[in-house]
Amino acid sequence: MTRYEALANAMAAEIRSGSLAVGARMPSLRQLIVQHGVSQSTVFRAYYLLEEWGLIRAQERSGYYVARGAAVSGERMPGPARTLADSAKVDISELVFSVLEAAKHPGVVPLGSAFPSPLLFPLPRLAKSLAQSARLISPWSTVVDLPPGNEALRQQIALRYLGMGLSQSMDEIVVTNGALEALNLCLMAVTRPGDVVAVESPGFYAALQAIERLDLRAVEIPVDPLTGLDLDALAQALDRHPIRACWFMTNYQNPTGATLSLEKKKALVELLAQRDVPLIEDDIYGELHFQADYPLPAIAFDKKGLVMHCCSFSKTLAPGYRIGWAAAGGFTDKVQRLKLMTTLSASIPEQAGIADYLQHGGYDKHLRKLRAALRAQRDAMDAQRGAGCRPAFAGRCRQAVISCGSNSPTRSTRWNCTGWRSNRVSASRRGQFSR
Ligand SMILES: Cc1ncc(COP(=O)(O)O)c(C=O)c1O
Repeated sequence: MTRYEALANAMAAEIRSGSLAVGARMPSLRQLIVQHGVSQSTVFRAYYLLEEWGLIRAQERSGYYVARGAAVSGERMPGPARTLADSAKVDISELVFSVLEAAKHPGVVPLGSAFPSPLLFPLPRLAKSLAQSARLISPWSTVVDLPPGNEALRQQIALRYLGMGLSQSMDEIVVTNGALEALNLCLMAVTRPGDVVAVESPGFYAALQAIERLDLRAVEIPVDPLTGLDLDALAQALDRHPIRACWFMTNYQNPTGATLSLEKKKALVELLAQRDVPLIEDDIYGELHFQADYPLPAIAFDKKGLVMHCCSFSKTLAPGYRIGWAAAGGFTDKVQRLKLMTTLSASIPEQAGIADYLQHGGYDKHLRKLRAALRAQRDAMDAQRGAGCRPAFAGRCRQAVISCGSNSPTRSTRWNCTGWRSNRVSASRRGQFSR
């Protein structure tokens, strides 16, 4: 554990025990430097981490305060989930469909629906880009824009990686129908029926559905709500099981919201590189960070082409357009062929429309506004939590559904995410895993 993580953990414990009460001002920079004998940057990084964990909030020109939604005395953060000792077949689809159906109820905040409000997207400006690019589209684009996809779009996506400080070749970017297709194609590229795949617990339900559909087996790796994936458990699982691939979220994990520190991301990539195990990295929420810069994904540390980084514009710009991508490293050719063999191509006018928007539409400005709106929604939800909203549990799954009435202003925060332990992994194990 790094010094800033240790400092953040110590302060998190004080907040959770109630020693630092909700609304209390956090110790000053100088106090912490003197008290703990650490540098200024260590304190800043610890504070950023606490902010990411939702325990403190920055107040402009004033300092940091304990957040209203922080776990206070008597209320404990859930610990990391238990894991499966063995790999198992997956059978969760019925549960997923029933929870998604229940989320349509207007009196329920749909924590099973991970979409920001559609009202937060610049749809008129996007429509302009769509119309403009449709006017200019070449009749040959039907052929030219087949996988890996529209060149201008892949160029723009590569530029966004460059903005993060990553040199990502556009030749290794395959455009897909949303991130979900990217994730599925990557999984198909590196597995065969019967193979074992490591997934997070709790995790994103679609990973389990993909494993179920492809007749694979799952090994659960626990995720701590604060520090994220348990790397020791992963190392043990790699020793015990013939794991052929990992499917993990390194930024804002669904459903815990945990982000791996840079050190952990690097260690994860190194651990998998030692064993030549591919990582399918779901980074769908990276752009929705509340910090100065994009939290670097694990692909930043990949030297062997083993990381497949999957993203889309669904949570940031245009959910209905279904445009996503995989930066698929050493598996690019396979992913590209699978794309051709399954759905042929992502919509050609929409690829061109998003490429035009990224060039001329002011995407970064929109993202700044979107992040501010989501931050305000998050704070409003914290306030409502304080005002007595109660989590209820939908059947046997651990997905919390908060019932606040239909006029809740927080119906669509970014982190209304879905995920649960695969507690119906197989009929024979049900007794063991139900809660
Ligand atoms: C964690 C996670 N990954 C991937 C996806 C799928 O993204 P897309 O809509 O781009 O297919 C979602 C959508 O809810 C998600 O929550």
